[in-house]
Amino acid sequence: MSQATIESILQEERLFKPPAEFSQAAQIKSLEEYQSLYEKSVADPEAFWGQLAAQELHWFQKWDKVLDWQPPFVQWFVGGKLNVTYNCLDRHLSNGRRDKTALIWEGEPGDSRTFTYAQLHREVCQMANVLKQLGVKKGDRVGIYMPMIPEVAIAMLACARIGAPHTVVFGGFSAEALKDRLLDAQAKVVITADGGWRKDAIVPVKEQVNKALADNGVPSVEKVLVVQRTGQLVHMEPGRDLWWHELREGVSADCPAEPMDSEDTLFILYTSGTTGKPKGIVHTTAGYNLYTHITTKWIFDVKDTDILWCTADVGWITGHSYIIYGPLSNGATTLMYEGAPRSSNPGCFWDVIQKYRVTIFYTAPTAIRTFMKMGEELPKARDLSSLRLLGSVGEPINPTAWMWYYRVIGNERCPITDTWWQTETGGAMIAPLPGATPTKPGSATLPFPGVIADVVDANGNPVGENQGGYLVIKNPWPGMLRTVYRNPDRYRSPYWEHIPPKNGQYLYFTGDGARKDRDGYFWIMGRVDDVINIAGHRLGTMEVESALVSHPAVSEAAVVGRPEEIKGEELVAFVTLESGYSASEELAKELKQHVVREIGAIARPSEIRFTDALPKTRSGKIVRRVLRALAAGQEVVGDLSTLEDRGVLDQLRAGT
Ligand code: WT7
Repeated sequence: MSQATIESILQEERLFKPPAEFSQAAQIKSLEEYQSLYEKSVADPEAFWGQLAAQELHWFQKWDKVLDWQPPFVQWFVGGKLNVTYNCLDRHLSNGRRDKTALIWEGEPGDSRTFTYAQLHREVCQMANVLKQLGVKKGDRVGIYMPMIPEVAIAMLACARIGAPHTVVFGGFSAEALKDRLLDAQAKVVITADGGWRKDAIVPVKEQVNKALADNGVPSVEKVLVVQRTGQLVHMEPGRDLWWHELREGVSADCPAEPMDSEDTLFILYTSGTTGKPKGIVHTTAGYNLYTHITTKWIFDVKDTDILWCTADVGWITGHSYIIYGPLSNGATTLMYEGAPRSSNPGCFWDVIQKYRVTIFYTAPTAIRTFMKMGEELPKARDLSSLRLLGSVGEPINPTAWMWYYRVIGNERCPITDTWWQTETGGAMIAPLPGATPTKPGSATLPFPGVIADVVDANGNPVGENQGGYLVIKNPWPGMLRTVYRNPDRYRSPYWEHIPPKNGQYLYFTGDGARKDRDGYFWIMGRVDDVINIAGHRLGTMEVESALVSHPAVSEAAVVGRPEEIKGEELVAFVTLESGYSASEELAKELKQHVVREIGAIARPSEIRFTDALPKTRSGKIVRRVLRALAAGQEVVGDLSTLEDRGVLDQLRAGT
C-alpha cells in the first residue's frame, strides 16, 4: 500500500450503520445478536458448530465427535457421513425449490442458459455417471481446466457426487502451470472445453491441455473430457479425448450421492506460497460445506428471493465458495458470467445486474477501481435498483474505492461487506454481517462467529491498539485447510510454526499484516511475506523468479511488488544476465513473454530492470526491502550495514 493510502486509512473515522429496513429483515439483525452468537461460539465451539451442523446440513450419518484438535491437525464432525451435492442439490428437490432457478449463466457474446435445481441435479448426475464410465473412482483426482461456463459447476459437483476430489486450475494459467498442478495432484481425468469467450477472444484451454499432456507429460492422466462451447476446431487425441456431448447421450441420470466421511477430501486448490511451487490446499467435506453455507447465509444475508453474483473465476477459492458451494447449499440462485468488462462493452457488468435483477453483488477492489476510472455514466445509465448488498474481496479496499462503490453502485442504500479471507480459510473470516455490523470504509471489521483473530508480534504476543503486527487466528474453524497435498511439512511449518507455539497454543499465521482499532475492528494492511497480491491474485515472488531464471539469458532474478493504482500492486523484476547477453528493450519484452508462457498472463512483470548485481547480505540473501524502495522510486532508508557491496546500490539507483 502506498504511504498516502495508509495515511488516509489511519484517518478514517466514518461509520455507516446498517439501514433499519435491512436489519429488520436480515438473518442477523443487530450488533447485540452478533455479539451473543460470537460469545457462544468461543465459549463452547463444539456446541455452537454441532448445533449449526445439525440444523443446516443433511447427514447420512451423524458424527460422533464435533472437534478433534491435535494441533496443528484437525478433524471436524468425526464419524459423520454426508455428501456436499446432496446438500447443494438433492435436498432442494423436496423442499419446494425443485423448479427454482439454481444457476443463471450469461455468456460473453450474449447467449445465456438457466438451470433449475432439478435440471442442475440431472446434469450433475449424468456427468458423474460419465466420469464413472471413464474409470474415475472415489478418491481419484480430477483436474478441471475450463472457462466460465455452466459445465464447470456441473463438473465440480459431479466430482463431489462420486467422491473424486477436484482440482480446478484457473483457465488463465499457462500449459506449464497446468502441468505442474496436474502432476502434483496425479490427476486421472481432466475436464476441459474447446474454448471459452473472454474479452472478445477465445481462451484456448484445449490447446493448453494438449501442450500440458504432450509426450505423456502427465502420466497419471488417462482421459480428457471435452465440453463443446465455441465450436472451434481443436485437436482431439484419439483414445484419450472424448466429447461430453457425445458421452452424455443416453447416459443415466440416476446417480445417488456417495456417502462421504466428514474428513474425506472434497477438493485440492493450488495457491502460491513464499517458497517453491504452488501448494495444493486440501479442503474436506463436512467442515467446508458447513463453513461456506453459514458464511453465505450470514455475511451475504441470503434469502430465497436473492440472486447472488460473485464475479470471481471458479478457478479461485472465491468462485468455489461463493459461486458454487455456499449459494447452492443455501438453495439460492447463483449467477455466473463468462466475460469481463472490455473496450467493446465496458458496461457489461451493469447490464447483467439490470437484466437479471441481481440483488447481491460481490467483486474485488481492483475491479471497483477500474469502474471508477471508466466513469459514473456507465452504471448510472443502468437500473441497478435490484441491488441490496455489495461485497468486496481479494485485497484491502481503499476508502476512496469503498465510498465510490457505496455511492455510485449502491446508491447509498446498500451495506458493503468487505470480506477478509484466503484460499486456506475456505470461507470469509473477518467481515461485517450486513444487518448487524456498522462499517468503516477500508476495514473488514469483526471476526465471524467461531473465529478468534488477533494482531501479534513475531513472538505471538498481542500488540497494542492501532499497532501494526501479524494477523493470526488462534483457534481451529470448520472451513480451514487440513493439510498441503502430499506435503504435511508445508502445512505445519509456514502456517503453524512461523510464530513458535507456546504451551500448546498454536497460532495460524495468515501472512498478512494488520492492526486493530479501539473498537476491535481489523484493518488489513497486506502481505508481509514474499507473496504479492496483483489485482486480487496471489503470486509467490519465487515462482516468478524461477520462471525468469529458466530463460537462458537470465543469471539471477529478484521480483518485488510496486504499488499500482488499479491492480493494487504490480511486478517489477530485477535481472542479471548471463555473459554473452546484453540488456535491451527486446530482451525485456522476451522475458515478460517468457513469464507469461511459464505461469500465465497474471504474472507478466510490468517492468524488467537489468542490473550487474543484486543487493545482497554477506550470507547471500537478497535484500528485497531495498529493491522494493527502488522499484517504487523511493529513498532507500534504514540500516544498510548488512549489504555486502554498497556499490550495487549506487548502480541500481543510477539505473533508475
Ligand atoms: C490474500 C488471500 C479468498 C479471497 C480471494 C483471495 C488478501 C483477501 C482481503 C480483504 C484485505 C484481502 C490477503 C490474503 N485479501 N481478501 N478483504 N482485505 N486483504 O484469496 O488468493 O488465497 O489470497 O488476499 O492478503 O492473505 P487468496
